[in-house]
Amino acid sequence: MKREIIVTGDGSKTIHLPELNENYHSHHGALQEALHVFIHHGLAFKNEAKKLRILEIGFGTGLNALITLDYAREYDLKVEYHGLEAYPVSNEELEAMDYVSLPALEKLKTEYSQIHTAPWDTLTKLNPHFSLHKIEQKLEAYMPEAESIDLVYFDAFGPRVQEEMWSVEVFEKLFKGMTNGGVLVTYCAKGQVKRNMKAAGFIIEALPGPPGKREMTRAVKP
Ligand SMILES: C[S@@+](CC[C@H](N)C(=O)[O-])C[C@H]1O[C@@H](n2cnc3c(N)ncnc32)[C@H](O)[C@@H]1O
Repeated sequence: MKREIIVTGDGSKTIHLPELNENYHSHHGALQEALHVFIHHGLAFKNEAKKLRILEIGFGTGLNALITLDYAREYDLKVEYHGLEAYPVSNEELEAMDYVSLPALEKLKTEYSQIHTAPWDTLTKLNPHFSLHKIEQKLEAYMPEAESIDLVYFDAFGPRVQEEMWSVEVFEKLFKGMTNGGVLVTYCAKGQVKRNMKAAGFIIEALPGPPGKREMTRAVKP
C-alpha cells in the first residue's frame, strides 16, 4: 500500500496512507499526540511501578518507543518494551521521518538508531533502563503470555479502516495478557470501542484528548 510522509501541526512528521485516507498519527501533531496519550496518560500514570513491561500494538515508526526510553531514563524506570508490527516501516522512510532533528528529540539520535537497528524477534537491552523486543507479527496471530503486561499502548489504525483490531475478542486477549491493575491507553474514544473494552472486563475512563481531539480513552484491568 502506498505510504507518503507528511508534516503535522507541531512540525513532526507522520506517514499518510492515501488509499485509506489514514495517518499513523494525528495531523494536528504527531509528537504532541504521542506524548499526551501514551506518556502523560499511560506511562506517567503507571510509573510508580518502576519496573514495567509495555506492549505496543502498532510499533510503526518507533516514536512511542523513543519517547518511552527518554522518560524511563529520566525517571529511573526499567522498561521492557514489546512492539508488535505486521508491516515494518523501511529504513528509507525512517530516515525521511527524521524525528531526531526535532529540538525536543535531538538528544536521542543514538537511541533512535539503536531502536531501528535492534534485531526483530529478540529481546535486546539498549541501556540499563530500556530493553526492546520488536515483534514482526499480526495482532490476530499474537498471544501475550498471561498476566505479563503492565501497560498497553493501543495504537492501531482507527476502527473506520481496521474495525477488526478493536473487537471484544482482541480486548479479551489483551485483558488476559495484562497484570491486575494493568492499563491500556489509546487515542480512540469511539463509543463502540469503549463498549467492546467494557465487555472484555476493563474499567473505562474518558480523558481529554490531545490538541485537536476532544477525548481519548484509558482502560484499567481491575
Ligand atoms: C497508527 S499506526 C502506529 C503508529 C506507531 N505507533 C508510531 O508511533 O509510528 C498503526 C500500525 O499498525 C500496524 N498494523 C496494521 N495492521 C496490523 C496488524 N494486523 N497487526 C499488527 N500491526 C498492524 C501498521 O503497519 C502501523 O504501523
